[in-house]
Amino acid sequence: MTYAPALDHIPGPPPKPLVGHTLDLLRDSYGLHKRAAEQYGPIYKTKVLGRWSVALNNADGLEYILSDPDRIFSSAGGWNMLHTIFPRGLMLRDFDDHRAHRRIMQAAFRKPVMDAYRDRMTETLDRLIGDWPVEQPFKFYPAVKTMTLQMGGAVFMGLPVDDPRVPQLNHAFEAEVAASISPIRKPLPFTKLRRGMRAREYLTGTFRDMIPERRKTGGDDFFSQMCLAQDEDGNAWTDEEIVNHFNFLMMAAHDTTAASLTKMIWAMATYPEWQNRMIAEVDALGETPIDDEAMAALNVTERVFKESLRLMPPAPFIPRQATRAFSFGGVDFPAGTGVVGAPCTILRSSDHWTRPDTFDPDRFAPDRAEDQSHRYAWAPFGGGAHKCIGLHFATMQVKVFMTLLLRRYRVAHADNAPITWQRVPIPYPKNGLPIRLIPRKG
Ligand code: HEM
Repeated sequence: MTYAPALDHIPGPPPKPLVGHTLDLLRDSYGLHKRAAEQYGPIYKTKVLGRWSVALNNADGLEYILSDPDRIFSSAGGWNMLHTIFPRGLMLRDFDDHRAHRRIMQAAFRKPVMDAYRDRMTETLDRLIGDWPVEQPFKFYPAVKTMTLQMGGAVFMGLPVDDPRVPQLNHAFEAEVAASISPIRKPLPFTKLRRGMRAREYLTGTFRDMIPERRKTGGDDFFSQMCLAQDEDGNAWTDEEIVNHFNFLMMAAHDTTAASLTKMIWAMATYPEWQNRMIAEVDALGETPIDDEAMAALNVTERVFKESLRLMPPAPFIPRQATRAFSFGGVDFPAGTGVVGAPCTILRSSDHWTRPDTFDPDRFAPDRAEDQSHRYAWAPFGGGAHKCIGLHFATMQVKVFMTLLLRRYRVAHADNAPITWQRVPIPYPKNGLPIRLIPRKG
């Protein structure tokens, strides 16, 4: 559906000529939506990249969009900017087709393979963290992005960390991500989109060539598991489906995890009392292997992770497109309406959180459980049919990383310069977050 549905009856902040609200969103996405909700109530419209969408900006609205009881909302239609580079990825499929593919992908997230990923991840991260500079300032955000991609070569693709193809694969992968979020949507020469399309050709070609061997030999990495994946009825993917699902999975996994680790490191350097609590918890594990028991014991780390996601969700907005007319909150919307849920404002709403702008991980402790105030008060991983399939993997990666890091080092800001954050499309600190690692033991 490409037509613009009639939304004259929906209020909203006046759009600027040509650009609508695109620049406002890039400058201050949270402020744009917070002010709009204060002025117009939870239902209002905005125009971004030439497209009008209606925000249903409260926890009931997010629940309605994501739980989608009437099977109205298309994820493929909402995430339309991703189709050129990540066609037919899991999030770009809808309803029965999506369900069938998700059931197959689930096989790559079973408990025994998750354990194998964890072991491979522990070995790889330990080595990569060991390469970071000590007692010298370095920018954490670019370093952790490189680290997650290098780890991806090992845990996602089953390649040795020093495989000569890894830097080129990572470079191509970054070009794909830059292209998918670039505002210029025509692949003109020298544009990010053109570069991203070339990178996609190289990556998908590489993946395609790896399939026959991995189908034969298997392996304890995501790619091999996706080559072998079957649902309970024995349905599996074609080569082309494996390539598209894997390419999308890499995109969904990397920048989201790098963004959350960055916000956590910022919090640990800013609030040393929380870093001390995390260190005490890691020390209590001793030098034991990082297994299920260790993962379950890391409660403080988990709270700091949750609070970091609350303050800066890697997916601040979740878009959909209505396949049929619908009503919400007493308002009628035509078929084709672009709809957006806004976890980022709900995660800071005083309807659900005490002192919402304060860093306070104990709000997730069982005696406070502020996240339970509404099913969708805390939804940085989304919800419903498309809820993040990598939630447990991401949590595991955060815990393994923090354990390995804090066994060796303490983290401090490298300077007192104020840090400003870009929040969309994926949050990051504009100065790269300069930090220092201070050895804990002689
Ligand atoms: C902190 C890290 C992460 C966050 C905050 C996050 C967030 C999300 C959100 C909000 C969605 C739902 C989007 C929607 O409904 O439109 C999603 C979907 C998805 N995520 Fe994650 N994610 C993270 C890490 C990961 C990891 C590590 C993987 C893979 C190992 C992954 C794979 C996926 C996939 C495949 C989907 C699509 C699911 C579907 O459509 O059924 N994510 N993620």
